[in-house]
Amino acid sequence: MKLTRLPPLKKLIVQKNCSLKDTIKIIEQGGQRIAFVVDNRKFINVITDGDIRRALLKKFNLETKISNIIKKKKCKYLNINSSFEMIQNQMTPQITHLPLVNDQMILVDYAINFKLNKIPVSEPQFLGNEIPYLNDCIKSGWISSGGKYVKLFEKKFLNLTKSNYSLSVTSGTTALHLALASLGIKKNDEVIVPNLTFIAPVNAVIYLGAKPVIVDVNKNNLCIDPNKLENAITNKTKAIMLVYLYGHACDVDKIRAIAKRKKLFLIEDCAEGLGTYYKKKHVGNFGDVSTFSFFGNKTITTGEGGMICFKKKSHYEYAKKLRDHGMNKNKKYWHDHVGFNYRMTNLQAAVGLAQMERLNFFINKKREMAKKYRFYLKNNNYLFFSKNFPNTKSSYWLYYIKLKKNISHLRDKIINKLLENGIEARNCFYPVNLMPPYKKYFTKKNNLNNSLDLSKCIIALPSSVNLVEKEIKNICLNIENILKNLKTGNR
Ligand SMILES: Cc1ncc(COP(=O)(O)O)c(C=O)c1O
Repeated sequence: MKLTRLPPLKKLIVQKNCSLKDTIKIIEQGGQRIAFVVDNRKFINVITDGDIRRALLKKFNLETKISNIIKKKKCKYLNINSSFEMIQNQMTPQITHLPLVNDQMILVDYAINFKLNKIPVSEPQFLGNEIPYLNDCIKSGWISSGGKYVKLFEKKFLNLTKSNYSLSVTSGTTALHLALASLGIKKNDEVIVPNLTFIAPVNAVIYLGAKPVIVDVNKNNLCIDPNKLENAITNKTKAIMLVYLYGHACDVDKIRAIAKRKKLFLIEDCAEGLGTYYKKKHVGNFGDVSTFSFFGNKTITTGEGGMICFKKKSHYEYAKKLRDHGMNKNKKYWHDHVGFNYRMTNLQAAVGLAQMERLNFFINKKREMAKKYRFYLKNNNYLFFSKNFPNTKSSYWLYYIKLKKNISHLRDKIINKLLENGIEARNCFYPVNLMPPYKKYFTKKNNLNNSLDLSKCIIALPSSVNLVEKEIKNICLNIENILKNLKTGNR
């Protein structure tokens, strides 16, 4: 699909001392019938073609400076960190473009018709059967957890992971909670978790009253480091949590062997690993249980949603029961356990099935994206590129660059500069051991140097399947220029 994006912010900017004549040209080129007036980079006001028409009909002429005609005009704007809801509330048929500023009033983006203009880090694509399947749910009345799409989605998922059982749930986080519960993880047990991860797998351990034991990651593949694992195992350890961060896999066999030898469960958190392969097999079938997320930024999405895959029938059956309030399947409203309501709806599963039908397209797109990023950044001296671990294929859920140590202090500046140029980029997750609720789980004997270093120097780049080559090239050119300017001190 050919994607046409809105003009970049800089094409819609006019300086306050610009003449009406030049402003007309800028508005014309931007094609939005509006321009944003700034003083240097500070936002002042908006000006529309209507404002100019009215000014010319009064006492002004084409040489008048626009600062004279916007003096009394009031306009709406919001801070860049405003929620979508706040942005939506400002939009009216009259206010179609909303300037977004940072805390210093510098204009950094704009929203139009409820959509941010910037190239986002991730963005879903619904070009398959999502709408017909959703219509089918609505027409049939099956909108909660009964209905055919839940079963179809779970089955389609099994075909991919080749696990024995699959169970859909409400999110990647509830998938982790339920997966751990189904393995019998309980108060005072220990579960080994990586120090660099989205926080959900660590929280899920804590929900059960168990203790997360924090271990460092490998500096190349970002997964938990098998060489540092054994040190952290005690007689209370019950499980190892393997997170495929950003979609990268690692030496899974080595981690499996440790789990087997020490009689520990292995849980694979594949939230970011849909489309990740190890030794030609999709991840999610190497451990006892594996979990997936279908949040809006994931490779496939159901809005919110998750999936658990199991090897053993007993774990699956127990999880299925816990998912439905711990209710006895032969005796309605009789509860054998304190369970949860973690059931996925037919509506979510309908979207999930349609997304799964296009999974190969999504994964190929992500792999092509990664190749293009590497190609356009290949001559860069300030960045590291990690190689895939042997026998693995990354899903490239998020493509990231790693700044060399001597410039890692510039990370936030680079991210802000990219944002000013209409490109969203993100810093990496913070090391778990540094955040107040988790500090107490860190024991000094574990060296966490890799996660501490990686967290400072990783920048995640736009990675949606909607990206076109021109945009990737433009993002890379921006990175090159920003790095060059920051290094030469030319800000
Ligand atoms: C590695 C990892 N695990 C778990 C989750 C939690 O998934 P959800 O947001 O669907 O609850 C996420 C992300 O969102 C994740 O990145």
